[in-house]
Amino acid sequence: MSSFLHQRPLQNSLSDPDELSPRSLQNYQKPTAAFLRRPAVLVLLSLLIILGVLSPYIHSPASLLSVSSNTKWRSYTLPDAAAYVAKNNTLIVCAVSEAYLPFLNNWLISITRQKHHEKVLVIAEDYATLYKVNERWPGHAVLVPPALDASAAHKFGSQGFFNFTARRPRHLLQILELGFNVMYNDVDMVWLGDPFPYLKGEHDVYFTDDMAYVKPLDHSHELPPPGKKGRTYICSCMIYMRPTNGAKLVMKKWIEELEAQPWSKVKKANDQPAFNWALNKTAGQVDLYLLPQKAFPTGGLYFKNQTWVQETKGMHVIIHNNYITGFEKKIKRFHDYGLWLVDDHASESPLGRLK
Ligand SMILES: *[C@@H]1O[C@H](CO)[C@@H](O)[C@H](O)[C@H]1NC(C)=O
Ligand SMILES: *[C@@H]1O[C@H](CO)[C@@H](O)[C@H](O)[C@H]1NC(C)=O
Ligand SMILES: *[C@@H]1O[C@H](CO)[C@@H](O)[C@H](O)[C@H]1NC(C)=O
Ligand SMILES: *[C@@H]1O[C@H](CO)[C@@H](O)[C@H](O)[C@H]1NC(C)=O
Repeated sequence: MSSFLHQRPLQNSLSDPDELSPRSLQNYQKPTAAFLRRPAVLVLLSLLIILGVLSPYIHSPASLLSVSSNTKWRSYTLPDAAAYVAKNNTLIVCAVSEAYLPFLNNWLISITRQKHHEKVLVIAEDYATLYKVNERWPGHAVLVPPALDASAAHKFGSQGFFNFTARRPRHLLQILELGFNVMYNDVDMVWLGDPFPYLKGEHDVYFTDDMAYVKPLDHSHELPPPGKKGRTYICSCMIYMRPTNGAKLVMKKWIEELEAQPWSKVKKANDQPAFNWALNKTAGQVDLYLLPQKAFPTGGLYFKNQTWVQETKGMHVIIHNNYITGFEKKIKRFHDYGLWLVDDHASESPLGRLK
């Protein structure tokens, strides 16, 4: 209940910008002629126009950079950041807290190798991350307030982790409302190839299956049938969406499902079941596309079935280090498979070497 109440204002603040701007525009266009003839009003109006012309420059990351204080990044908003970072109307986003910075850097190196790093926007969940990324790579990190308590946010299965991941659909919905295509990735991923050629057709939402059983190489791109728990096991770790009504509907449903089933000590949920229920409930109205397993395998397959890995050699595009919990274990596994790039290749990252 408390989490339900807590999340309401956040949801309202999402729709506010859209509602406010057309309304204030209307007021601005409607003053009567007599009102306009008053000199003070004319001066005020011209001032407003001059400010309006200048404001894109005032808000540009370049001028923010010239101000030495990091605190300037506090006023950098998601619309500012999305407009600055997007290329070809497309963004690649992740959401990270400070503890995940080594994984962020590892992921970034792999994306840089595919020449897609310029459209990466890091949604910082704490101020340390916001400052650290923007100091090295100005404009590529944004914080959507409120910042979370970082120390509580990284234990998988905890309430802090739930609170942290529950913000994901709100961020993504806001980006869709701004009109951008968006790819979301968890940062415990490594790109071995370019995923964009796999985003075929004009579907609303693209995603990958988290089920570890082997599928035929030419499996269907439909939403798979529900599993044991009555729902599918689609991964909320990698999602690509076009700014369509269908994609927005899935994000709204995901937010609703998270509110309807908040974290509890018994369930220790994360955001993935809610995403699957959102897909289940919107399936008839939204154009969904399941990406090929051979290119986007779950960690439960890639790290556990060497026979399959050999059979599909050269077909892998994004590897997800899941089906394992704990930072140290994840790092060791990436290391063992030659996917921990930060030790030897940090210079390839736009962030350089992080301490
Ligand atoms: C998570 O969010 C709930 C509801 O907003 C709040 O009561 C709780 O204190 C938060 N827990 C953590 C660890 O952040
Ligand atoms: C830009 O995006 C369109 C589809 O949204 C795609 O067909 C095209 O290849 C992209 N161009 C570049 C240069 O990435
Ligand atoms: C949605 O879930 C219900 C309950 O498990 C199931 O019967 C139904 O087939 C699912 N629908 C889709 C489109 O997956
Ligand atoms: C591992 O992969 C092989 C080859 O694709 C497959 O035949 C086998 O069933 C898989 N093993 C398991 C345990 O899924």
